[in-house]
Amino acid sequence: MSLPPILSGPLTVPVLASPMFIYSGPELVAAQCQAGVIGAFPSLNARPQSALGEWIDQIVQSNAAFAEANPDAYVAPFAVNLIVHKSNDRLAEDLATVVEHQVPIVITSLGAREDVNEAIHSYGGIVLHDVINNRFARKAIEKGADGLIAVAAGAGGHAGTQSPFALVREIREWFDGPLLLSGAISHGQSILAARAAGADLAYIGSAFLAAEESRAPQDYKQMIVDSTAADIIYSNLFTGIHGNYLRGSIEAAGMDPDNLPESDPTAMDFGSGGDSASKAWKDIWGAGQGVGGVTSTGPVADLVDRLRTEYRAAIDSLAQATAAETANIAEAPTAGETAAAGSTSATAGN
Ligand SMILES: Cc1cc2nc3c(=O)[nH]c(=O)nc-3n(C[C@H](O)[C@H](O)[C@H](O)COP(=O)(O)O)c2cc1C
Repeated sequence: MSLPPILSGPLTVPVLASPMFIYSGPELVAAQCQAGVIGAFPSLNARPQSALGEWIDQIVQSNAAFAEANPDAYVAPFAVNLIVHKSNDRLAEDLATVVEHQVPIVITSLGAREDVNEAIHSYGGIVLHDVINNRFARKAIEKGADGLIAVAAGAGGHAGTQSPFALVREIREWFDGPLLLSGAISHGQSILAARAAGADLAYIGSAFLAAEESRAPQDYKQMIVDSTAADIIYSNLFTGIHGNYLRGSIEAAGMDPDNLPESDPTAMDFGSGGDSASKAWKDIWGAGQGVGGVTSTGPVADLVDRLRTEYRAAIDSLAQATAAETANIAEAPTAGETAAAGSTSATAGN
């Protein structure tokens, strides 16, 4: 199935920059769209609730001004993330704001609901739902989501445990609609790998946290640059569901990252706009295993430029490396042909 036009625009590189609690603001999203990748932010970042409409207006206006000044540039669309968890008491108001402003792409997390999907479809918006396994993926599509985000092992924030190969493969067995893949993607070669595995777009968070326009404090950005996959700790202590966090921030909060107690899902609380969750996320810094590929804290435009250069180089080098194999594969007999030839010669020998 081909991608809906809103996702298939001429992106600089096939990436949706994922929403990040607290740290994705309108300036980051506008910079992402203007660099030619789809930008996103969680609705709960805009506080009070009335700020959500203002943020959306700010992004739309900034993108329009950029497009006018740069008529040849492709300005990518943006997405708003709604946390569809029962503890989110802002959901109804945020959904109403999203519908009023006709947000083109909505990312739903932590729950799939038909009524939410219908509201977004009412004005022509599309819904991408994030999932950590094939069971949730089926449920999301049954409830009316248009596309899926496979959150594989190693992703920043709330992450799954499944290999991207397993997750994408199982979903692609029955779903040919829009599929994004997330988890530790911070290099153009990995974006190509996501596509080769069966995804349409890569979904990238942590690499954008370190960008100049992100709202993460400087120490957090630097810790991302200085960390590698070995510095990522998977724990459910901070929000009640498992996520990936920077070892250094857990140590700075006075805890032993290697001996964290267990929590449980009842600890999840997005009430009153995520106030209790935000306390945990302010001190304990989320990041995925792809931090080893993040080496600077420059502007979004530089990061997207690097990803594009790497992506193109990866396409070229893979094309070269596989050219000989392609010829061999085309010429080599299939197993069936070999068996048939064997039985013919056996017959001829008799
Ligand atoms: C600090 C942080 C906050 C996040 N907050 C949210 C959120 O509010 N909503 C959401 O759907 N995903 C959230 N995520 C997950 C990302 O959207 C995405 O799945 C993840 O960052 C992709 O993996 P990567 O960081 O390895 O690129 C967050 C991730 C990080 C690192």
